[in-house]
Amino acid sequence: MRTKRIKIGSETEYYLLKEPAKCLAEGGLVVFPTETVYGLGANALLEESVKNIFKAKGRPSDNPLIVHVASKNQVSEVVSAIPKVAEKVMEHLWPGPITLIMPRASRISNAVTAGLDTVAVRFPSHPVARRLLEEAGVPVAAPSANTSGRPSPTKAAHVVEDLDGKVDYILDGGNCSVGLESTVLDTTVTPPQILRPGGISKQQLEEILGQVVYDPGLTNQRAVPKSPGMKYKHYAPKAQMTIVEGKDIAGCIGRLLEKELTQGKKIGVLTSGNHDYPADFIIDAGESAEEYAANLFDALREFDAKGADVILAELPFGESGIEPAIRNRIYKAAGGNVIKC
Ligand code: TXA
Ligand code: MG
Repeated sequence: MRTKRIKIGSETEYYLLKEPAKCLAEGGLVVFPTETVYGLGANALLEESVKNIFKAKGRPSDNPLIVHVASKNQVSEVVSAIPKVAEKVMEHLWPGPITLIMPRASRISNAVTAGLDTVAVRFPSHPVARRLLEEAGVPVAAPSANTSGRPSPTKAAHVVEDLDGKVDYILDGGNCSVGLESTVLDTTVTPPQILRPGGISKQQLEEILGQVVYDPGLTNQRAVPKSPGMKYKHYAPKAQMTIVEGKDIAGCIGRLLEKELTQGKKIGVLTSGNHDYPADFIIDAGESAEEYAANLFDALREFDAKGADVILAELPFGESGIEPAIRNRIYKAAGGNVIKC
């Protein structure tokens, strides 16, 4: 298949979305930017099109997809009931980087929900995503637009690397501002549970909802995560990656480098705020948690492109705001390989 690439820089170019929106509604695959990561969209009401998403990504079919809507009103087309908790989140935080698990409507394809009796719904805030969804006029199932297992795409070039020739359109709307996927909140249980930490923090949710808990499966190695996607190895660069956190990160990385450098391997360091190390190369993801989140997936791809054998990553963050989401993604990328010092 020949993939058409369209760059959408400003509102004056939104007329360019007409064709891809029509293609999407009629069964095609269209990659679009969101504020979190790029999404690989198909009409959520067409089973065959949804199945094509799984083929293009190489995604296991037991991992359900998020349905994207163009408005709060459209939610009733895809769910059988809107829990009170969901209503409150929609009122305060939509559109934005939070996905809500609700009871599913029967018209949603089984391919979307992987046979579960719930459906994940999200109203993205990115203006290109919003306009595309409005023009398409149908709910759109969309996972992150990467090959399954690779870091999620935060710029169109990442999507081209993974999906060129496998989709009808790639819409280039620049870099994604959040850079990590949406928070997934199960609103069908009491208290509501965070199944995946993301762009909206636990604190933000608690301000609106009162008590909110993390799915125990996120932290307990023995419990199975409730969100099927969270059990897979993910976001992984090809290199062997070690996370370094604690009080003396720089000293610890320095000592690790002394050991590693004698082994003739190509070593990269992921820093937060440009520390200097005697490594083969250093990538600075940014000093603040927000910058680091926005740059993380790009950095992981860059280590692959540079042929790193080993990555040592500074992780100087705590537990507030987007920090738990950073920790979740980077721990997964490193396969749980963490040194605390
Ligand atoms: O920011 C995002 O959420 C991006 C953009 C494109 O919107 N999408 C995204 O989709 O990250 P994906 O497919 O990569 O991740 C969806 C996550 C998976 O972990 C999946 O298992 C979970 O949501 N999920 C989907 N439906 C679910 C359901 N009914 N119950 C529990 N978890 C569900
Ligand atoms: Mg994904």
